Amino acid sequence: MQNKFTMAGVMGWPVEHSRSPVIHNHWLREYNITGAYGLFPVEPKQLGVAISGLRALGLAGCNLTIPHKVSAMQYVDWIDPIAKRIGAINTIVIDSSGQLCGYNNDGFGYLHSLYEVNPAWKANRGPIVVLGAGGAARAILVSLLDAGAKEIRLINRTLDKADALAQEFGAVITTYDWSLRHEALQGCSLLVNTTSLGMHRQDSLDIELHDLPQEALVSDIIYAPLQTQLLKTAQAKGNMTINGIGMLLHQARPAFKAWFGVMPEVSNELKKILKETF
Ligand code: ATR
Repeated sequence: MQNKFTMAGVMGWPVEHSRSPVIHNHWLREYNITGAYGLFPVEPKQLGVAISGLRALGLAGCNLTIPHKVSAMQYVDWIDPIAKRIGAINTIVIDSSGQLCGYNNDGFGYLHSLYEVNPAWKANRGPIVVLGAGGAARAILVSLLDAGAKEIRLINRTLDKADALAQEFGAVITTYDWSLRHEALQGCSLLVNTTSLGMHRQDSLDIELHDLPQEALVSDIIYAPLQTQLLKTAQAKGNMTINGIGMLLHQARPAFKAWFGVMPEVSNELKKILKETF
């Protein structure tokens, strides 16, 4: 039975919308751990001071969300190789010697959201189509490459950004012009939308799914709304779909383990609680 009070939280600007406190405080109760997880509104110009303050305050670490995921890298003592490749950190853990260690668990969260619906899922089963080339796409690309993907078709409105990622990550990634997004689905085993198209108050994603094989998994990292038009259309076609809640929940697990000592599970109860916040 642990009796040390352990604290962590999330730094963002703005940060009030973050669901991380719901997730971590639920696990603290579920696993009987004495501690708390809070919201830290940190202005960009205060980020360095806030991060060094973690150690001074005796926190176990923190999560980082928009707009801090890239700029926080300069304020930590060590960065995990996966986070370096992604080019951003979403978690800081203070280790036993007081070092600030930066990690990025977004790709882990994405992969585990797939394993949750299909534990036998394999990245090398067929071509994977990734829509978008922003920060979220980088984390997902790195995780798919590490999971053994053999062909990734990267499609982005601004082709140059997709080409730059293909250059950086190697020949597994081939790029397609945005206008070819419909045909590029031929023979694919997984389609993932990492663009903001389909989010509340944004345009919807306009993509024809005629060429999408029936066995393909369709995932959207958007969780507001929970069921985007992409997922609804894919479901109507009979494809298996995965919404963004899974990535949000699973990315939180390694951070919780590092701070509080228990690898937590994603229960249906937690999913229900989280869904009620949207
Ligand atoms: P995140 O960190 O969530 O990935 P981001 O880095 O701002 O956010 O990336 C947003 C992604 O959505 C980009 O791939 C962007 O395409 P561009 O690189 O061309 O900007 C994509 N996106 C946003 N609005 C879009 C639109 N109207 N049509 C197509 N793609 C769009």
